Amino acid sequence: MAGLQVTHLTGIRELSLSDLQQILSTTDQFAEVLQRSVKQVPSLRHLTVLNLFYESSTRTRISFELAARRLSAQVVNFSVAGSSVSKGETLLDTARNLEAMQMDLVVVRHQASGAAHFLAQQLRASVINAGDGINEHPTQALLDAYTLRQFAGSLTGLKVALIGDIRHSRVARSNIFCLGKLGAQVAVCGPPSLIPQAIETLGVTVLPDVVEALRWCDVAYVLRIQRERQQAGYFPSLQEYAAWFGVHERALQQAGKKVPIMHPGPVNRDVELAAVLADSGHSLILQQVKNGVAVRMAVLFLLGQR
Ligand code: CP
Repeated sequence: MAGLQVTHLTGIRELSLSDLQQILSTTDQFAEVLQRSVKQVPSLRHLTVLNLFYESSTRTRISFELAARRLSAQVVNFSVAGSSVSKGETLLDTARNLEAMQMDLVVVRHQASGAAHFLAQQLRASVINAGDGINEHPTQALLDAYTLRQFAGSLTGLKVALIGDIRHSRVARSNIFCLGKLGAQVAVCGPPSLIPQAIETLGVTVLPDVVEALRWCDVAYVLRIQRERQQAGYFPSLQEYAAWFGVHERALQQAGKKVPIMHPGPVNRDVELAAVLADSGHSLILQQVKNGVAVRMAVLFLLGQR
């Protein structure tokens, strides 16, 4: 195995196509491990993984923890509640102090865009970005790409519509970079206030109408609406958002087809996505979550080789 060209995973933007492909092919191997009755291998038993989470998380934190345990690594979980952050300790001091206890891999989620890049410059340990502000969420995009490849066979030419709050979505940014590198076609759809200007420079098409986006795509990737965006005036009400940009049965009927639905979670049921669709046979949401463990095993394993 050649190993990755990077020593940290701060974003998809920095990854070469060969690194992306290596992560996906290594994921295949760990997905096979997870089919066995004993879902554990000794690959990282000599390493310690720190989960450094400054923001709430269900899927990503548990998935990284489980991935590390399945690789036989030791795992330490840090969360802000109950920590010395309340006494004013900085991100860097916290990370350096925990690293002094001999952490090898640091998985960081932080509300500040650039937090993972910053720590990657300061720490000896390999840093993995578990979501930084509105910048990137690379392992989400990797598990999404893996799920799409599993569903469609190949990403080449596959049409994926990202629907929702593109402006504030680190998931959208990582997916735009990831899907583009892997040869998919990407369109974005949402209220004009939630579509960044010049987004086309990232190689995506803007489709202003959700029915048009559903008609165009092979897969609809619905993004979570952050409720605080309504208070900030990006759209008038959740009800109006649901009516005009929500993915629901009427929109699919108007589009004249049923499309597979993806969502990074957590879902605002009956806001950006109808509950009945989230729970339907067309939903790939729980497959995404399942694949997240194998993808994160691959990332931890590959970065743990240095
Ligand atoms: N998809 C995702 O990042 O979910 P969590 O916030 O629960 O980790």
